Amino acid sequence: MELRGTMGINGRGHLEIGGCDVVDLAARFGTPLYVFDEELIRGQCRAYQKAFARHYPHSRTIYAGKAFLTLAMCRLIAQEGLCLDVVSGGELYTALAADFPRERIYFHGNNKSREELVMALQAGIGCIVVDNSFELEILDRLCEKLGRQVDILLRVTPGVEAHTHTYIQTGQLDSKFGFPLAQGIAREAVRTALEARNLNLRGLHCHIGSQIFELESFGVTIGILYHFLKEIRDELGWTAAELNLGGGLGIKYSRDDSPISPEEYIAYLVESVRENAAMCRLDLPLISVEPGRSIVGEAGTTLYRVGAVKELPGIRKYITVDGGMGDNPRVALYQAVYEAMVANKADKQKTQLVSVAGKCCESGDMLIWDLEAPEVAPGDILAVFCTGAYTYSMASNYNRLPRPAVVFVSQGSADLVVRRETYATLIANDVIPFRLESLEARSVEQA
Ligand code: LLP
Repeated sequence: MELRGTMGINGRGHLEIGGCDVVDLAARFGTPLYVFDEELIRGQCRAYQKAFARHYPHSRTIYAGKAFLTLAMCRLIAQEGLCLDVVSGGELYTALAADFPRERIYFHGNNKSREELVMALQAGIGCIVVDNSFELEILDRLCEKLGRQVDILLRVTPGVEAHTHTYIQTGQLDSKFGFPLAQGIAREAVRTALEARNLNLRGLHCHIGSQIFELESFGVTIGILYHFLKEIRDELGWTAAELNLGGGLGIKYSRDDSPISPEEYIAYLVESVRENAAMCRLDLPLISVEPGRSIVGEAGTTLYRVGAVKELPGIRKYITVDGGMGDNPRVALYQAVYEAMVANKADKQKTQLVSVAGKCCESGDMLIWDLEAPEVAPGDILAVFCTGAYTYSMASNYNRLPRPAVVFVSQGSADLVVRRETYATLIANDVIPFRLESLEARSVEQA
C-alpha cells in the first residue's frame, strides 16, 4: 500500500493528508467524506503543463470535468491555467457559475440538446466538439438564428480498441461516439462542416478510452488519424489546426497497476505527431489532451466510519462502512480494485484479511475484497485511496443515502467545497399530488 501526494502518518499513528489528521476531518465534517489533496491535483496539472512546455508549447491541457467537477474545482483548474471539457448543460452551468474563462471551455457530448447548444453559443464558449451529423446540422442552424459563428472540432472514431474495461473503451468502430473514419463517414462530415456557413472547423478530436496503461494504442491512433488527415488534405485541401487526442491515462489504484507519467505520455504523443506530420508533409497542429482521471484520481480519499463487523468463521470477516456504492459505484460497475487503510491505526501491524462492505441493500455493494488490516472495531475510520475520479461525479442517492461532503485539504487547512446532503435535500424535489394528500387508508371496497 502506497502513500500518495502529501499523505503521511503522524505521531498519533493517524493518516494525514495535506497536513490534516483525517481522524479529525472525520470528526469535524462527518463521514463518509471525500477528501482531496489540493497539492496533488495542482501537481498533476503542472506535470502536464511542464511536459508540454518542454516538448511542444503549442498545446493545451483540457481537464475533463466529468471526473470531478464543482465550483471550487473549476477555480482550481482556472488558476492552473488549464482548459475545461464539459459534457452537459449541468457541467457547463457549473463552469459558468464559477466564472471559468469561457474561451477555454470545450463542449462535448453525443446527444447535446438544442437548449444545451444554445446555452453554449450564448455563453460564447471556446469550442464545440461535434459528435454526429444531426448535431452538425442543428448547430449550424442555431448559429444562423443567433447570428453567431463557432469553432468546432469533429470527434472521430479511429477503430482502435484500447486495452481497458469494455465500458470505458470508446475508440472502436462500433461505438456510440463520433464519426467513424471508416466507410467515408468522417470524410463526409468534414465536407459538411466546411460547407456550413457558421461553423469554423478547427480540427479533429479523438478519445480511445480510459485507464490506459500502454502507449501503443495512442501511437496507432495517431497514425490512423494522420492517414485520414492526409487524404482529406489531398481531396479537400483542408488541414487541421488542432488535434485533440482525448484523455485516458491510467492511474495506480492498486499495486498491480503501473501507470505512465504525464511526462512520458506527452513526450510519446508529441513524437508520434511530429513523425506522422513530417511523413504526410502536414503542418504541425495545436495538440490538446483531455485528462480527467489522472488529474484528480489519486488526489481523492474517501473516509468512512466502520460499523458492524461480522465474522463468518473459516469463511470471511466483513467490516461494514457507512457508505458504499452510493458514493463509489465503480466497484459494482467496473469491478474496480481499491486499496485502503484503517486511518486511526495506521501504525499498527496488519494481522488479518477483511472485506469491506457498503451499507446499501445489495450483495454487490462491496468496496474491497480481502484487505490486509490490523484489528478493526466499530468506530474506526477507514480511508479508501484513489477515489478522486468518477466517484463523487457518479454518486447516487440509492437507498436514499445523502451524498457525502467534499473537502479540499492543503497545508494544514481543510475547506468544505461541497456540503453534505441532508435528509431535507433528499426530499426537496419530491411532490405529493393532490389525490395522494390524504393519509387515510382506503378500505378494500373503495380500492
Ligand atoms: N475526453 C473524453 C471525450 C472522454 O470521454 C473522457 C472520459 C475523457 C476525456 C477523460 O478520460 P480520463 O482521462 O478520465 O480517462 N466512469 C468511468 C470512466 C469513463 C470515462 C469517460 N470518458 C470510470 O469510472 O472508470
